[in-house]
Amino acid sequence: MNAQVKGAASFEIPEGRTVTVAKTAGFCFGVERAVNQVYEQIKAVKEGKAEGPIYTYGPIIHNEEVVRDLEEKGVTVLDTEEDLKALPEGKGTVIIRSHGVSRHIYDILKERGIRIADATCPFVKKIHRIVDEHAAAGDAVVIIGSPFHPEVEGIRGWGNTYTTVIENEAEAQNYVVPEGKKLCVVSQTTFNYNKFQDLVEKFLKKGYDISVLNTICNATQERQSEARRIASEVDAMIVIGGKSSSNTQKLYEICRRECENTYYIQTVDDLEPESVSSVRSVGITAGASTPKNIIKEVHTNVRIKF
Ligand code: F3S
Repeated sequence: MNAQVKGAASFEIPEGRTVTVAKTAGFCFGVERAVNQVYEQIKAVKEGKAEGPIYTYGPIIHNEEVVRDLEEKGVTVLDTEEDLKALPEGKGTVIIRSHGVSRHIYDILKERGIRIADATCPFVKKIHRIVDEHAAAGDAVVIIGSPFHPEVEGIRGWGNTYTTVIENEAEAQNYVVPEGKKLCVVSQTTFNYNKFQDLVEKFLKKGYDISVLNTICNATQERQSEARRIASEVDAMIVIGGKSSSNTQKLYEICRRECENTYYIQTVDDLEPESVSSVRSVGITAGASTPKNIIKEVHTNVRIKF
């Protein structure tokens, strides 16, 4: 019997197998926008419409193939502030990735007269604005998230000395709002919602004058829910993504719980034809750093070859 999964793209092959590709597989809106922006900048430099060379501040995504392809097209990854300061003045374009950066980084680039192509995800940009406004109004700000995540480092860089990052219950319990200050609470976009609620609860119990802004983006959660639903309806499930990608590992675990025949692959080369050759329905999903062409290649092979 064929499996048709509502709301997702389904394709029938002559043998009667149905292959379902999750709509949310691969890049989220912000990452896709950032990657496209790099290719647009390459084109603009080629056409003489933008200043080369092109740099990205940090790898644009955690996918070696994409980063290598961009390097071949002349894009250099810069990793540190020192790298930015060492750039020749008034030359080149620095692309800021979807995670965003602190105000300080914009200042360095502006001072050096380097063009900025800003691919900060609009959802992250919104958090920068909130933190900036509340800090300027004299409020204390708590960012709930992982302190060393680049997105959180960027958000923190829009605050001031009264801006703090809190990651766990003990930190929330020990936090004291400075005398006479109002408190504003925001979140890293990929933070777990339940954990966020628990930490906010701790502040509310202390009776602070608090404004809570839930800035969690639901792209990750939507990808996981769709993967779970598809995996529960197919005979075999394929999860595509880098071996060290934590969001892909999580997707694999979710799918494996629903479907015993779940396969974790990086590219089509890792897929054993025997694993799917005899099944009637196959589902495909992919982690947040998996480009469309890799997903398409797996899809085509599962439909036509295996
Ligand atoms: Fe992606 Fe932007 Fe959400 S980068 S995960 S769409 S905050």
